[in-house]
Amino acid sequence: MAKDVIIALDFPTREETLSFLDQFPQDEKPFVKIGMELFYAEGPQIVREIKARGHKIFLDLKLHDIPNTVKRAMAVLSQLDVDMTNLHAAGASEMMRGALEGLTRPDGTRPLLIAVTQLTSTSPEMLEKELLISRPMEETVMSYAENASCSGLDGVVCSPLEAAKVKACCGESFLTVTPGVRFAGGELGDQKRVMTPEKARESGCDYIVMGRPITRDEAPVSAYRRAKQEFLHK
Ligand code: C5P
Repeated sequence: MAKDVIIALDFPTREETLSFLDQFPQDEKPFVKIGMELFYAEGPQIVREIKARGHKIFLDLKLHDIPNTVKRAMAVLSQLDVDMTNLHAAGASEMMRGALEGLTRPDGTRPLLIAVTQLTSTSPEMLEKELLISRPMEETVMSYAENASCSGLDGVVCSPLEAAKVKACCGESFLTVTPGVRFAGGELGDQKRVMTPEKARESGCDYIVMGRPITRDEAPVSAYRRAKQEFLHK
């Protein structure tokens, strides 16, 4: 799949989500991310509905359970015909391999499978004091990324600031999906370590995930086009 901008549809209801998408012209169908809030509120039907409108979908549910449960859950998600989904690399290799197996459809196709390494909300202090992981954060992130790569996954969710290192560690074709992207001079919200779409491209990010800089803009379609232009240079 080619590089792209993914809009995070962080809305609580179907109505708000569809009225946001209705602002785009018929022939412009952004790649979108559906997360836990919308999925748990509206169920699998919202995925089918947005898919039927012609959008590519990243289903961001971050699965983490025993391998058999994740495998079976992934088999259900693959029937929703999403294009990308994810899990926690902390579930370890057996779970990741099970997920891939479950996700693969009878015809051999499957959505891209991306791993979350350490959540960006986990501080080095939490890592050491609560999770009892004494190795530095960056080493943990790279090690989890390598485990994901060795298990056959397609890439990781990471900060754009980590993308180049992940590529160096796991290979150029290992995908980096990066939230924490902001326009130059834009509001940061709760994101702390951010990069512009243009810098994200220069850093080798494959997909940038942008929510509020597009969804909260007065002119979301223009904001989306700006993000695409800056990230893809077209
Ligand atoms: O609004 P904003 O551009 O900050 O949205 C970023 C999206 O990426 C949100 O849906 C957020 O949950 C998600 N995300 C993130 N940081 C991570 C993982 C996911 O911001 N480490």
